[in-house]
Amino acid sequence: MIRRALDLGISYFESARAYSGSEAYYGEALGDDRQRIFLTSKSHDRTAIGALSHLETTLKNLRTDWLDLWQLHDLRSEADLAQIFSPGGAIEAFERAKKEGKVRFLGITGHQEPQILLQALELYPFDTVLLPVNPAEPAYLSFLDSVLPEARRRGLGVIGMKVLCRGLGLQVPDYGTPEPWIRYALAHDVSTIVIGCDNPQQVQQNVEAAAKGALGAEEMAKMEAAVAPYARQLMYYK
Ligand SMILES: NC(=O)c1ccc[n+]([C@@H]2O[C@H](COP(=O)([O-])OP(=O)(O)OC[C@H]3O[C@@H](n4cnc5c(N)ncnc54)[C@H](OP(=O)(O)O)[C@@H]3O)[C@@H](O)[C@H]2O)c1
Repeated sequence: MIRRALDLGISYFESARAYSGSEAYYGEALGDDRQRIFLTSKSHDRTAIGALSHLETTLKNLRTDWLDLWQLHDLRSEADLAQIFSPGGAIEAFERAKKEGKVRFLGITGHQEPQILLQALELYPFDTVLLPVNPAEPAYLSFLDSVLPEARRRGLGVIGMKVLCRGLGLQVPDYGTPEPWIRYALAHDVSTIVIGCDNPQQVQQNVEAAAKGALGAEEMAKMEAAVAPYARQLMYYK
């Protein structure tokens, strides 16, 4: 899948210390192509010592000595923020890694509580945010009308995830192909979207769908209405 994505012109590649073998697959597949892509990973450890140890393992697995973006993984609670920003907290590791040139940009991710990401943006000048972008979002605790516009107002890069609600979206009647979901996400003020794939054919199909560009406003409203009855199930991640 990684080679197919590279051949199809994909330049954003994402992993995380928490994603079992994912980093090592990149280390094996990228080779010299690492130089020409934007490669990112994440740490879910809230302490500086733990995060630095994650970064060491991440760089070894990816077979590179730098990351384009390092993200604080899955911010969910006030307790997460308190630990990250307290003495000995993970933010010290993130700042040190940037100063030492091991990472170029720093970001945050989350899909449970928009308020927590908004607070994080207040606490530190992050470069990027990874958040859910799909037609179920407007129904409840939406990231689309809170974190996304605030991140843009502050000049951050925005990465959309949960574009297919981990595949569940394809069970919604009349929306059983990835194309409308991908085009819905691309209609938002995002820098890029990251989609999980299970085989090279899905990579190809998603690239072809994305090439069709953003969905129109009327189609977006129609899709939100069609998805609304299933919104709670589709947002299993909240
Ligand atoms: N907190 C965080 O930072 C966080 C949390 C979650 C995810 N992520 C990132 O986001 C990525 C995507 O995960 P996600 O949860 O957002 O999932 P997603 O992209 O919404 O959905 C991925 C799933 O959709 C299905 N799919 C994809 N392309 C398809 C196609 N062409 N045809 C049919 N089915 C297709 C596959 O599931 P089936 O084939 O099984 O149906 C695939 O596993 C992850 O790999 C990860 O990098 C980050």
